[in-house]
Amino acid sequence: MTPLYFDNHATTAVDPRVVQAMLPTFTENFGNPGSGHAFGWRASAAVERATEQTAALIGAAPPEIEFTSGATSSIRRALLDTVNGEHLHFITAATEHRATLETFEELARLGHETTILPVDREGRITAAQVLAAVRSNTALVSLMHANNEIGTIHPITEIGSALRAARSEILFHVDAAQTAGRHEIDVDKMNIDLLSLSAHKMHGPKGVGALYHRSRAGRRVHLRERHAGTANVSGIVGLGAACEIARIELSRDQKHMSVLRDQIIAALTAYPQVSLNGPLRDRLCNNVNVLVEGIEPERLLNDIAFSSGSACAGPTESHVLKAIGVPTDNPSLTTMRFGLSRFTTAEEVSSLLERFRALTEKP
Ligand SMILES: Cc1ncc(COP(=O)(O)O)c(C=O)c1O
Repeated sequence: MTPLYFDNHATTAVDPRVVQAMLPTFTENFGNPGSGHAFGWRASAAVERATEQTAALIGAAPPEIEFTSGATSSIRRALLDTVNGEHLHFITAATEHRATLETFEELARLGHETTILPVDREGRITAAQVLAAVRSNTALVSLMHANNEIGTIHPITEIGSALRAARSEILFHVDAAQTAGRHEIDVDKMNIDLLSLSAHKMHGPKGVGALYHRSRAGRRVHLRERHAGTANVSGIVGLGAACEIARIELSRDQKHMSVLRDQIIAALTAYPQVSLNGPLRDRLCNNVNVLVEGIEPERLLNDIAFSSGSACAGPTESHVLKAIGVPTDNPSLTTMRFGLSRFTTAEEVSSLLERFRALTEKP
């Protein structure tokens, strides 16, 4: 039997409509967009369309989109290739993705100052906290829109406008790997200067993403020149198609996922040995993360694909759970993260809950 898939924060199935959009790029439309002939022009037109589709999802203009190999490379470029100067100051939060935290370590090695903001027990930070951390040499603030482990949504609009009002020269980068295509994003309303997203988190192919960089009259982020090589046309076309589908279906998908999410949260937290990690409100629409005591979730892994980990301190310890204060000294505590998608069905959820029940009853 194929296991049920509940690990959509790790990656998502490619939407068949995305596959259809990509297919011609392997066959009749295989040209190099850099070529000055009909094959090149067609490939170039396909990339242009994907650029428009990607920009439209986040309220950007096409020239503000640069394609990358995924959110990790977008984040690295946003943090390393936008600001010039020595001894600058960068701000982020303790629960950010490794891609950001590791780049912050690199910034520190390069001689810059870094601040890693603590979060509260639900993984939140506030605009006031960010503003209080700003120094005279602060160049950039980088925060995720929603956390990939515990689903906390940061108040990006509030932080963006507070930063813009307080110190307009500070760049604001948002890691939207988990929210692009799931939650509404408008780079203008949210005062975002740089934004990273990834196709494979939103039913597109792996190995392709985008970096938005504000580039309009009055405010322009300069990205350091780089030679990108031949464009990943198939991947870019896939990302564009995934963005377009997500934009059109966003509110329906979001409702679908949040109804199932709430159903799982209500059912699981009814067990005395289960508690929710992360907030009940302002939560990523497809995220469930629970702490369970005295249950062995690994016994479910043959039937259900989800992410599970010991809450105990050790080499695989989650920096996110540690940051929200989950006890790390109790070996009977385990975490279970379930990630839903537009393809998750009510039957799959019932089956998940049924199997969880059986797990709690078995000795
Ligand atoms: C919040 C967040 N940021 C960044 C990444 C990295 O994305 P990619 O796999 O496209 O490099 C991920 C993926 O796990 C993520 O969840």
